[in-house]
Amino acid sequence: MIKKVNVKTIQKYKDNKEKFSVLTAYDYSTAKYLDEAGIDIILIGDSLAMVALGYETTHSVGVEEMSIFTKAVSKGVQRAMVVTDMPFLSYHTDIPSAVKNCGEMIKFGANAVKIEGFSDYILDVISRLTETGIPVMGHLGFTPQFLNTLGGYKIQGKTKEAAEEILKQAKSLEQAGVFSIVLEMVPQNSARYITENLTVPTISCGAGKYCDAQVLVSDDVFGKFSDFKPKFARKYGDMKSLILDCAKRFNEDVKSGKFPSDDEIF
Ligand code: KIV
Repeated sequence: MIKKVNVKTIQKYKDNKEKFSVLTAYDYSTAKYLDEAGIDIILIGDSLAMVALGYETTHSVGVEEMSIFTKAVSKGVQRAMVVTDMPFLSYHTDIPSAVKNCGEMIKFGANAVKIEGFSDYILDVISRLTETGIPVMGHLGFTPQFLNTLGGYKIQGKTKEAAEEILKQAKSLEQAGVFSIVLEMVPQNSARYITENLTVPTISCGAGKYCDAQVLVSDDVFGKFSDFKPKFARKYGDMKSLILDCAKRFNEDVKSGKFPSDDEIF
């Protein structure tokens, strides 16, 4: 029987100094292949706003869309832990609606949720969620839902003081009950310092090699999304060319009458 990755597995990775992997997925078949490949956490990131829905920022996606993608991804996964990124405004207004919206994702098949940022209110949300039985992944450093208040895509935690501040926030998140924390666009040395001073694992999203895990957007990894490529992303394939090639050949075969063949008809 396949042993599902859960919060205890993730903590064990940190305790044993074993790295783990996180990739995003937004559909059933991609999730199935990532799971088969041994990815430990599959994140339904709100990055889907840009890479799957063509919006400019993550702000435009809502609970309803995240529910649809959560249902699709969780159906494809047997081993990995499935985490849904809670979209902008889905947990910010009040605690009852935060619990309800996050709880819906668990009902649709997620095993945990991710929420961005740090404040007394966010700490209360995390405590209430974990009390309700909903594991929470935190997200600090550059937090895309705060793009407008942060003043753009800016590296966070550059100075000793700024790194101390992120560590302070991370420790509060840890106390409130998160099982892991994404550190996004934090210099490697700051992320190392933060990671070494936390009990829960850190997940690097452009925060260097000393974090306990690495996350990337799968469309960047596959070379599928081509509108922009973050400096920290690594392209392992060229899915854009593959799709273009397949579509062009199909187009030609249809127009020249080569498709369908005698084997492809009833
Ligand atoms: O939305 C997303 O995909 C993310 C990860 C890349 C951390 O938040």
